Amino acid sequence: MPDDRTTHRVSFHLRRSRPAVAVVGATGAVGRELLRVLAERQFPLAELRLFASRRSAGATLSFAGREIAVEPLSEASFAGLDLALFSAGSAVARDHAPHAVRCGAVVIDNSSAFRMDADVPLVVPEINACAIETHRSIIANPNCAAIITLMALAPIHRRCRINRAILATYQAASGAGAAAMQELLDATRAHLAGAPYAPRVLPHPYAFNLFSHDTPIDPETGCNGEETKVVNESRKILGDPDIRVGVTCIRVPVLRAHAIAVTIECEHPIDPAEARALLAEAPGLRVVDDRAANHFPMPSEASGRDEVLVGRIRRDPSDPSGRSLALFAVGDQLRKGAALNAVQIAERLLP
Ligand SMILES: NC(=O)c1ccc[n+]([C@@H]2O[C@H](COP(=O)([O-])OP(=O)(O)OC[C@H]3O[C@@H](n4cnc5c(N)ncnc54)[C@H](OP(=O)(O)O)[C@@H]3O)[C@@H](O)[C@H]2O)c1
Repeated sequence: MPDDRTTHRVSFHLRRSRPAVAVVGATGAVGRELLRVLAERQFPLAELRLFASRRSAGATLSFAGREIAVEPLSEASFAGLDLALFSAGSAVARDHAPHAVRCGAVVIDNSSAFRMDADVPLVVPEINACAIETHRSIIANPNCAAIITLMALAPIHRRCRINRAILATYQAASGAGAAAMQELLDATRAHLAGAPYAPRVLPHPYAFNLFSHDTPIDPETGCNGEETKVVNESRKILGDPDIRVGVTCIRVPVLRAHAIAVTIECEHPIDPAEARALLAEAPGLRVVDDRAANHFPMPSEASGRDEVLVGRIRRDPSDPSGRSLALFAVGDQLRKGAALNAVQIAERLLP
């Protein structure tokens, strides 16, 4: 980490138990969810300041019954602030997080800018909360598909190490931001009306369609950026550089909540009932696994909820050794995959 991003901290805690907080990217899909989560969880606040680009000049956002003006972000924005929740993309994080840190704030960043930096903790509180204590003023919130996948895998991994995980994602529009959600609505309306619609945000027609994740493909490996993030971040969060992970990331026409189909191969045989019991007692998870009713996790039931839903827990019939299980997880990536996870980290920073 460059020196100008670090400050000497005597404690991993914030300076005050009622901190002054900034939300950077407040007008975006994650930013608006951050405001909802901060209000719902009654996060203690001395002051809340909202920042976005110059495009949002003059806008206000409501928070806990009052209107707050959105300010354009500048180098001077962070004076007097204790905590900055960034959700404005990697470029903004790289440019502005160092200013926040120099002002004495702790940054929790939702972008991928710092996630793989060796001295930046990458945290899912239910999995590796202790990493928070090692921060040097910047903490990274992981990729949303990684968070939802690992919420379902970590309880099993802790008991019976997972050697290998093969997964396919079904990722919602909201993962690409507020404009992509609007594009899904507009494209669907146009399709139903029989009208032409030219995609503006995502690269392909979105109504009644799905396509390979819109991050760039590495020409050598054939993997896209999202897939690479899930692989690398899974290893870092689990603290297991040897876990083998293979991923195919797909964008589906769902407004919010990502779904992930996973097959795991453990070091030892594991019974589906044992896995179900481990998942049932894990914090932040809800088992939805009703074979009789054919009722399993769905984006419609995960949307707006804090818990990651997990089900379809069964033996993988292609592995007679009994070491492999298949399961299906769904989580609202604007909440647990982004805003909620960030606020949970912030709560652990309170002195
Ligand atoms: N969406 C998800 O599910 C999800 C999950 C995990 C992580 N993330 C990450 O969170 C970040 C935000 O994602 P999002 O989905 O909320 O995107 P979004 O809906 O497109 O919102 C982007 C936000 O960033 C602001 N912004 C853009 N350029 C800026 C600048 N130069 N200065 C200040 N603010 C600027 C925008 O302000 P204006 O409104 O003024 O343009 C807006 O508030 C991204 O890094 C994304 O990868 C997203």
